[in-house]
Amino acid sequence: MTKLDKEQRFLHGGDYNPDQWLADPDVLQEDIELMEEAKINTVTVGVFSWYALEPSEGEFVFDWLDDVFEKVDKMGGKIILATPSGGRPQWLSEKYPEVNRTDAYGQKHHHGFRHNHCYSSPIYREKVQRINRKLAERYGKHPALLMWHISNEYSGECWCDYCQENWQKWVKNKYQHLDKVNEAWWMNFWGSRYSDWSQVTPPSPLGETKVHGMDLDWKRFVTDRTIDFYQAEIEPLRELTPDIPVTTNFMAEGHDNHDFIPLEGLDYGKFAKYVDIVSWDSYPDWHNNYESLAETAMKSAYVHDQYWSLKHKPFLVMESTPSEVNWHQFNKSKRPGVHMLTSFQQLAHGSDSTLYFQWRKSRGNSEKFHGAVIGHDQSAENRVFKEVAEYGARLENLTEIKGSGKDVRVAILFDWESNWALKRGGGFGRPTRKYPQTLQEHYAVFWEKDIAVDIVPSSHSLENYDLVIAPMLYLMTEETMAKLEEYVKAGGCLISSYFTGMVNENDLLYLGGLPEPLQKIFGLDVKELDTLYPEETNSFVYNEEQFSIHDYSAVVSVERGEVLASYQEEFYSGSPVVVRNTLEQGEAYFLAARTERDFLRVFYSELIEKLELANTLIDNHDPEVSVQKRRTKDTEYYFIMNFSDKEKSVGIKSAVKDMESNEMLEGLLALKGYEVRIVAKNVQI
Ligand code: GAL
Repeated sequence: MTKLDKEQRFLHGGDYNPDQWLADPDVLQEDIELMEEAKINTVTVGVFSWYALEPSEGEFVFDWLDDVFEKVDKMGGKIILATPSGGRPQWLSEKYPEVNRTDAYGQKHHHGFRHNHCYSSPIYREKVQRINRKLAERYGKHPALLMWHISNEYSGECWCDYCQENWQKWVKNKYQHLDKVNEAWWMNFWGSRYSDWSQVTPPSPLGETKVHGMDLDWKRFVTDRTIDFYQAEIEPLRELTPDIPVTTNFMAEGHDNHDFIPLEGLDYGKFAKYVDIVSWDSYPDWHNNYESLAETAMKSAYVHDQYWSLKHKPFLVMESTPSEVNWHQFNKSKRPGVHMLTSFQQLAHGSDSTLYFQWRKSRGNSEKFHGAVIGHDQSAENRVFKEVAEYGARLENLTEIKGSGKDVRVAILFDWESNWALKRGGGFGRPTRKYPQTLQEHYAVFWEKDIAVDIVPSSHSLENYDLVIAPMLYLMTEETMAKLEEYVKAGGCLISSYFTGMVNENDLLYLGGLPEPLQKIFGLDVKELDTLYPEETNSFVYNEEQFSIHDYSAVVSVERGEVLASYQEEFYSGSPVVVRNTLEQGEAYFLAARTERDFLRVFYSELIEKLELANTLIDNHDPEVSVQKRRTKDTEYYFIMNFSDKEKSVGIKSAVKDMESNEMLEGLLALKGYEVRIVAKNVQI
């Protein structure tokens, strides 16, 4: 059991940057008093403190951090201590320019302030290990130290000589023989064949090199390089503080085009294996002008669930905001009650924390307008502060939920590699591939019905799921196909679609139609894949209702499956759109075209009924109300969340206990706009 497991409270707090305020000694004391008032119990310190800790090479200054540790400890709080590699000091870039990144055009970057160091540079690794060792030596045994926060939001690529050399080694190690590289990347095309290892250089600049297999491997290499750097970072920490857990904060992306999906650039499915607990920084665009609050909540829920699924264990929300996010295009304030609502949503999906960026609003520089617990008025008489304090007080009544698990019987498969390969390839509609966004469309149906879903990599075991949803799994290995076949044969229910099983792990097409195991599973073969312009549609009738198709239509020939719907237009009019097949104990459905969510709702409602997936305790048919469950061996905890400003109600079918008032509830439960109720039910397994 780590210190984090032993911590009984939900973590409430976040990034604390006292080193911005060292010139004002009263601020630290005032911070502690206000933290107590806001029910803050955990602070993340030192994310960008390298300069404050080492103002010149080899000169270490810890007195201010000692003071923070003492004061936080005295208030009964805990510290997540960051390694400061995310923001290196100026002296380091100046003295050792190799630590700065080189871009794809070979240009060495200037200091750049944060997040742009080279992951290969030996001197950077050495300097990072040195400061990390100092921190571990000084604070490793401090009672307030709860966990390590490694660097900050790792991302990006570098094309310096060290990285090029490492790339060549990585390729050599993977393929051993140059012929194998030529084969895997199909290098006879354009006569690109390598005749010597020295020719194996990175795809630089990306986009001009059109070797798809190479680009895919480069992305894998970038993930491996990042993990390698991370492992070098944690080496002294593992040695000196083996009992202190380690994490690094993952991200989500897509705000500019109205998406909200896990970061696409790094394979977090792989990275997660190297952290003790998954954590991520959550900045959905609440209150935007393009979708309802409930739709944003669905997308946010999806990312939470994906991060839960990386380890099937509680994760941490390492950063979020009590109010505005200064880097969004528009930065609307959270309406009263929405901070509470969106923070409880984190817990409802498996987070054991609500942590903020940041505690005190900066006076100047890049993020001075970012929401924070203490605003520029520096007062507790402030709406945002009061809402944070109110949330903190509510958390104190809910501690028994911390560490609890989830019951999940539905899985969506997502592979970062498949996403990279599909996005990189030519053909089809460039802006409409939208693999994670399409998965989110499927997910939305379950979220609207309060049914928990895991989003797992295809390497994950499928045994415990009654339903596996794997549309658009473009890159599929033979092992995955065999696993899906076994899953269906053993009684599972599998859903897939157009774009599935097209290429192998090298992005080489499978020849001879849909690979044989998939033909067996779905009872069909795929003959063509038609791309529609955004303004075009096709249609089909399913259960006597008409539905529309957009973006993609596969033309399939059915061998054994049962045709449930057919295209109404185009040269393939009359050919199948929805096909069901059975294989031994199980069944599989193939959706040949991209449909709207209205069809998915109808389609899945039959399976939800057949597989008895629906929530039986809380009757809720309102898609703006979300009910999510966490559980221990003998208790189920339901978070009932109203994602609208209108009054709503749900029906409670058998008595539950309100976790905060302790009253027993049954029958109709009314919720005010944005309200959250948390109820518990004792159960026996
Ligand atoms: C995060 C980052 C923080 C801060 C925050 C503002 O991505 O880790 O340091 O910049 O965004 O939203």
